[in-house]
Amino acid sequence: MADSPNCDLKSLSPLQLFEKVTEQGEKVRALKAGKAPKDEIDAAVRMLLSLKLSYKTTTGQDYQAGLPPKDQALINNGTTKEEDEDLVDPWNVQTSNAKGVDYDKLIVRFGSTKIDTDLINRIERATGQKPHRFLRRGIFFSHRDMDQILHAYENKKPFYLYTGRGPSSQAMHVGHLIPFLFTKWLQEAFDVPLVIQLTDDEKYLWKDMTTEKAYEYAKENARDIIACGFDVNKTFIFSDLDYLGSSTGFYKNIIKVQKHVTFNQVKGIFGFTDSDCIGKISFPAIQAAPSFSSSFPQIFNGKENIQCLIPCAIDQDPYFRMTRDVAPRIGYPKPALLHSVFFPALQGAQTKMSASDVNSSVFLNDTPKQIKTKINKHAFSGGRDTIEEHRKYGGNCDVDVSFMYLTFFLEDDDKLEQLKQAYTSGELLTGELKKVLIETLQPLIAAHQERRKQITDEVVKQFMTPRKLAFEF
Ligand code: TYM
Repeated sequence: MADSPNCDLKSLSPLQLFEKVTEQGEKVRALKAGKAPKDEIDAAVRMLLSLKLSYKTTTGQDYQAGLPPKDQALINNGTTKEEDEDLVDPWNVQTSNAKGVDYDKLIVRFGSTKIDTDLINRIERATGQKPHRFLRRGIFFSHRDMDQILHAYENKKPFYLYTGRGPSSQAMHVGHLIPFLFTKWLQEAFDVPLVIQLTDDEKYLWKDMTTEKAYEYAKENARDIIACGFDVNKTFIFSDLDYLGSSTGFYKNIIKVQKHVTFNQVKGIFGFTDSDCIGKISFPAIQAAPSFSSSFPQIFNGKENIQCLIPCAIDQDPYFRMTRDVAPRIGYPKPALLHSVFFPALQGAQTKMSASDVNSSVFLNDTPKQIKTKINKHAFSGGRDTIEEHRKYGGNCDVDVSFMYLTFFLEDDDKLEQLKQAYTSGELLTGELKKVLIETLQPLIAAHQERRKQITDEVVKQFMTPRKLAFEF
């Protein structure tokens, strides 16, 4: 049975095998120390040798006590980071490079695959849509198994989208629009169901926040998400605090994941320590479970094998490396992923825009004046110190935050290229580039606020009610 802890050794991940060998080694030592009967010790030693052999066959490495398998790097994160590597995990993004995180290196470290022109062309052929600017410009830059999703789609097999938000503040920032705008495009291009998880439980566990406040923020954030233009007939938004208690399908999947991931594994993946509360330690299973269609029996008619595609920024990947490791062991397909780069903080691309640092962010409820002031005052400039120098040597688009923001939000490819040329040659000054950005963001955010205003409590309730969507399964 796929769900059994005594499953076949071949179905164990390298890390699980490593743990089994370690456990068995301890058992042998204990038997010897306790002067157990010889045949019992011999049987335990035979088992140990057989486990070591499986370990070698699976990993290509000899078992060494205390040294986890090398490909553990695929599911490992910040904790074993080399000194000069960028820090990227669900809570921190930090690099010393003003150009931002080295995403090519991150792909290698995380073991994902680069989104190349062939894949973009295939998406275009499959959907008949011009690729979104986030694809054209490498903003969604990495994936896991997107080719499988396309293969399924080309063969008329269904899939669904899953994404989420941790409601840590009343207002979301413009960086949060990146996965949601792209998810909306994917939903329209592929015409598939979408589930959106609001992890108010996560924010209660991690922040100094009551459950009531976290739930209130979840509903407020749902408005911002709905204002991105999702179709109510095709989208289910849920708060964990609400849905977890009412869905046995969801809860069953959570405990299946919990049963198959050890404390050691989550320590390795997320850097948890012995003094973290057990709520945090078990939380990753709650973010994993929506990747399995049986968490939503009302949408998928109880079907367990509908494949899932998760668009998110790459900070969320640790959750889904864990999910993908567990999925086959509990009899489910692995979720596929599309990863985006980070929308940088106003102060520069050394870190991401983050709601926890208000000075780093342009919020979706900022007034036009606030947007103008924040950009003029804080947006890191790649321009020169004096106008004379700037005219002579030109600005540096690679580190200029205003230019980076325009690559995310200015739709017109030609205009973006003209701005790049003009800024690099020194013809365009920093103040002028900032003006273009301000004039791009102000109407975009004003339109968002206008749409948000139209969203009544009734509309939020509709999106958040567990129900069948406009798809037959
Ligand atoms: P949260 O609230 O930190 O972020 C929500 C989504 O926004 C992305 N994101 C960003 N993208 C680009 N630039 C930024 N500066 C930036 N900051 C955040 C995140 O990657 C995420 O996609 N635990 C999650 C909530 C969650 C989730 C999910 C996210 C639950 N299930 C499934 C993605 C997919 C969280 O706290 O996200």
